[in-house]
Amino acid sequence: EETGKGEFDHYMLKEITEQPTSIAQTIEGRYDPRRGSVSFDACEPETFADIDRVVLAACGTSYHAALYGAIVLRRAGVDADAILANEFGVSAPPIDDRTLVVAVTQSGETADTLGALRAASRAGATTLAVTNVIGSSAAREADEQLFIRAGPEIGVAATKTFSSQAIVLTLLADRIATASTGTSTLPIGDICADVDRLPSLVEELLDGSAAESVARRYRGERAFFFIGRGLGYPVALEGALKFKEITYEHAEGFAAGELKHGPLALVTPETPVVAIFTGTEDEKTLKNAEEAATRGAPIVAVCPDGHDALSIADAHLSIPDVHPMLSGLLATVQLQLVSYHAANLLDREIDKPRNLAKSVTVE
Ligand code: G6P
Repeated sequence: EETGKGEFDHYMLKEITEQPTSIAQTIEGRYDPRRGSVSFDACEPETFADIDRVVLAACGTSYHAALYGAIVLRRAGVDADAILANEFGVSAPPIDDRTLVVAVTQSGETADTLGALRAASRAGATTLAVTNVIGSSAAREADEQLFIRAGPEIGVAATKTFSSQAIVLTLLADRIATASTGTSTLPIGDICADVDRLPSLVEELLDGSAAESVARRYRGERAFFFIGRGLGYPVALEGALKFKEITYEHAEGFAAGELKHGPLALVTPETPVVAIFTGTEDEKTLKNAEEAATRGAPIVAVCPDGHDALSIADAHLSIPDVHPMLSGLLATVQLQLVSYHAANLLDREIDKPRNLAKSVTVE
């Protein structure tokens, strides 16, 4: 394993840095700009023709990608929900033979997710595995498979697989909407034109110096809160998960609008609030961040240069201008880098955090 890190101290940093390549692999050959259509090597369009709702089941980082995918599916005009795979058995929405259940799992071996997949099959649903591992249990057991093609991920904290999952789910949303309703309300041509730009846009973020200085500046604070709205919400959850996994510091993600309904009680000058602006109702998210700033919290704005949020920000993690359906992925890269540098400053075991496993094969 040691040799596989190449010039990097940790697999996590190597894998964050690989995203220009992994994203390019994920999209390759799957969108035809001439015809304006998405196609997958597997998954014929008729697979989705009779589907009237989609349930995505996943855990951890994959669950955040599933939440992202569910939002995109709904924007494409498809009835969709994401559910934690470990809650599936007790609180899944109604499932029948017109339901597509999508197991989103990097490893394809997570017991909770396999449990959801099996329960979905028993209930008569069509099942689809969105996974990184060919030949994994999820890939073998599901009716259909879509591979995210991110390449091997060794670091316990998932990084590059999140962006690849979100992209596959975005393409899938257009495919399902088109197959099941005849039209998709997603501007897939614009989105895919920007997916093609993502590798070079991610490259711009990789020097990581802004992320490192944010990590340094707020080292030792009491807790870290992440807020976002729309597609920024799963990004906030993922930012907080990454942070707690590898720094062992207290971090939580909230829907920006929900901050005032409870979490605001936790906000003090010792709790930096990382506010993620993905181009959807940003003015409301700015108001929410202002409420935290009024309580003295330092605000770290994750937004494009020149954004209104900078008027209240103490620190800035810049994201390039891109289609709003994708800016959350660029924000995630910045947040991965912040977590990495914060953990590195604390001398944590970044690739193998305490108590965690890359793939959890018990329920
Ligand atoms: C474990 C890992 C997480 C991962 C989750 C789901 O808890 O520590 O990083 O997101 O499993 O894994 P999967 O392979 O199903 O995506």
